[in-house]
Amino acid sequence: MSFQKDFLWGAAAASYQVEGAYQEDGKGLNIWDVYTREPGHVAFNENGDVACDHYHRFKEDVALMKQIGLKAYRLSISWTRVIPNGTGEVNPAGIAFYNALIDELLAAGIEPLVTIFHWDYPYALHCRGGWLNPASSDWFEAYTRVLVDSFSDRVRYWMTINEPQVFITDGYKNGNFAPFMKHPDGDLIRMTHNVLLAHGKAVRTIRAHAKRTPIVGFAPTGPCVVPASNAPEDIERARAASFDFNRNNYTSSNAWWGDPIVLGHYSPRAYELFGDLMPKENPEEMALISQKLDFYGANIYWSMQGGELGTTLTGCPKSNLAWPLTPDVMYWSIRFLHERYQLPLMITENGMAGHDWVALDGKVHDPDRIDYLTRYLRSCKRAVEEGLPLIGYMHWSIMDNFEWARGYDQRFGLIHVDYGTQKRTLKDSAYWYASVIAENGENL
Ligand code: BGC
Repeated sequence: MSFQKDFLWGAAAASYQVEGAYQEDGKGLNIWDVYTREPGHVAFNENGDVACDHYHRFKEDVALMKQIGLKAYRLSISWTRVIPNGTGEVNPAGIAFYNALIDELLAAGIEPLVTIFHWDYPYALHCRGGWLNPASSDWFEAYTRVLVDSFSDRVRYWMTINEPQVFITDGYKNGNFAPFMKHPDGDLIRMTHNVLLAHGKAVRTIRAHAKRTPIVGFAPTGPCVVPASNAPEDIERARAASFDFNRNNYTSSNAWWGDPIVLGHYSPRAYELFGDLMPKENPEEMALISQKLDFYGANIYWSMQGGELGTTLTGCPKSNLAWPLTPDVMYWSIRFLHERYQLPLMITENGMAGHDWVALDGKVHDPDRIDYLTRYLRSCKRAVEEGLPLIGYMHWSIMDNFEWARGYDQRFGLIHVDYGTQKRTLKDSAYWYASVIAENGENL
């Protein structure tokens, strides 16, 4: 068996990381717009005010995607471009921008995959308590309804939320990402519940109102633990570790989010750890949270613990961000996630930060990224060959962009962006990926 005929070979980006135009055409401010103005949060005090100027250059960018032969492009919507205050009045210019982008993609033969929320939370709603506010899931549902009414005549693939693990942990627990806060467990648990309800209400709204039969998922981080060997007991240990968590890492874990969303209950571990801090069990709410999904998305970069919980990866090859190269994580995550959640998988992100620059010959040579991708895609292929259902692979990222707290210093793109001139250059890896797509992964 190899990659299915209509396998979605794609690439991804997110609104705040690429669009720029942060105050144009009626857009409201989000928490990244506001808090990156305070020095000290982001490397070199950079921000996404201009980013890749994708807002103005999307036609050129889609043409490059077409040149690479992408079958799909995973984009996210900027909530405040569409609804400047987060609730209430809709901004027609924001809708018009995404209509134009979606139309451009479809005309290029590229399937748009829409992520409803990739971290650029409306500042106006943050001032009303954000995810702590009991109405937060209703705000999210109303926002989703606007997107569904506007785009679902053309958009089929929907993802509710990108990496709840990361925006809650880094944004509200560790204070590394906007809004750069540090909340106690009780608040984080309340936020979790509201995020889960927001997800559930969004799924309900998509299913009820989409004009074309929707294909719905979400895009959590998904790395599982790679077993130390193929011995059954090592595999079992890795499987268990992949869905376990403790008081320190629970918001970053798979099962904290995945179990309620797919299995319809919080992991028993959550009650063991937090007892009364957990929401009272409410079957109606859990049913809302766990409506049927069509796929489980997984953003996968590296096996968190190497082979065992707590193992460090000394001496392991590492990317520019010092993230270890652990290609087997693809196979094992697809396998373990599918076993537990019984859904088709989509790799919604994977890629690496490299040392990429335009060489004297005018090209961008990134052999490390090609090597990385070959290894990680072979690992996906192994899963597919074993009959595990994998429906797509989205490379992170289509182009270099604003890498959150690390600013523009880290380059994940298939396309190099010169931020001074906004000149785009396809990296060697983009040409390589084009041939992988053309061959449907046959020669990996
Ligand atoms: C996020 C992206 C980010 C990427 C690389 C993921 O956590 O969804 O927005 O740029 O990883 O750090």
